[in-house]
Amino acid sequence: MLGQDLEDHLMARGFRAIGVDKGELDITQASSLEQLQKNAFGSFDWIVNCAAYTAVDQAESEIMPATRLNGVAPGLLAFIAKTMGTKLIHLSTDFVFDGAAEHPYHEESLTHPLSSYGRTKRMGEENVQKENPDAIILRTSWLYGPNGKSFPRTMIEAWLVGKSLKVVNDQTGCPTSTHDLSRVIGDVIAADLPGGVYHATGPEVMTWHSFATLATHEAASRLGVAAPVIEPCLTQDWPTPAPRPKYSVLDNSKLQSAGIAPMRPVVESLQEFINHLALEWNGK
Ligand SMILES: NC(=O)c1ccc[n+]([C@@H]2O[C@H](COP(=O)([O-])OP(=O)(O)OC[C@H]3O[C@@H](n4cnc5c(N)ncnc54)[C@H](OP(=O)(O)O)[C@@H]3O)[C@@H](O)[C@H]2O)c1
Repeated sequence: MLGQDLEDHLMARGFRAIGVDKGELDITQASSLEQLQKNAFGSFDWIVNCAAYTAVDQAESEIMPATRLNGVAPGLLAFIAKTMGTKLIHLSTDFVFDGAAEHPYHEESLTHPLSSYGRTKRMGEENVQKENPDAIILRTSWLYGPNGKSFPRTMIEAWLVGKSLKVVNDQTGCPTSTHDLSRVIGDVIAADLPGGVYHATGPEVMTWHSFATLATHEAASRLGVAAPVIEPCLTQDWPTPAPRPKYSVLDNSKLQSAGIAPMRPVVESLQEFINHLALEWNGK
């Protein structure tokens, strides 16, 4: 979801960017990483690692593949980037926190992941920092974008096929558009920020229920039809294999103090996202 958008954004901005997928560069395979080290993909100033095991619930039972990809591979990539003299941006997640806080998490707030996904992503952060202190770790949250599966797409598509919707209203976070995050990543590269952890999320705090309501209302307005009423529910009414943080708002002030502009209001990003969906609907 992020990698494709990032490649498009960086190219449009004039960077020479090359996106590689698992078939070309499997970051869990030593032979693949050696290819990277031998400049098989060219020589680079920056590597951005968007690859991850992101099936949060599945990671509860598939601990080894999730650990290899989220926990071990980022450390190897960080080591190789250092030996190549290439800068590294590694993507991480709000799921490294337990969600017990009542105020936004800062970069140095205590991590305490609740899920296997969160634990493997935290392991990846630690390995990246150990192997390459100059690497940049960007923690983001609640990503959505035109490529691949995302929460607002699922909500809008379920509503369009006539399903009634019930969504949890007691988990709070910040939706983040892949377009906006790509812009931030481009800015981080252009500014050549020093290594460390930075929080990079959309600017608005909401629950999944309010996000679903906003997304379907924007889609309804785009289509000129009545918006659905979405039933709120509690996490306990919607059990999932992996526990989610109740509150995972990330404070972005470190990034902004470094001169990186905040992301757009969620309505603007959602409208752009829905315009992409509309192109898909029209193409069907
Ligand atoms: N999605 C969210 O809500 C969210 C929230 C917070 C943070 N993040 C983080 O943001 C980053 C981007 O997430 P995303 O949602 O864009 O993820 P995504 O859509 O699941 O994409 C992950 C990509 O990694 C690729 N991949 C899998 N195994 C690989 C391997 N061994 N080597 C190389 N590539 C491999 C996948 O390819 P295949 O599809 O071919 O397997 C897929 O293209 C991740 O670090 C994620 O943890 C995501």
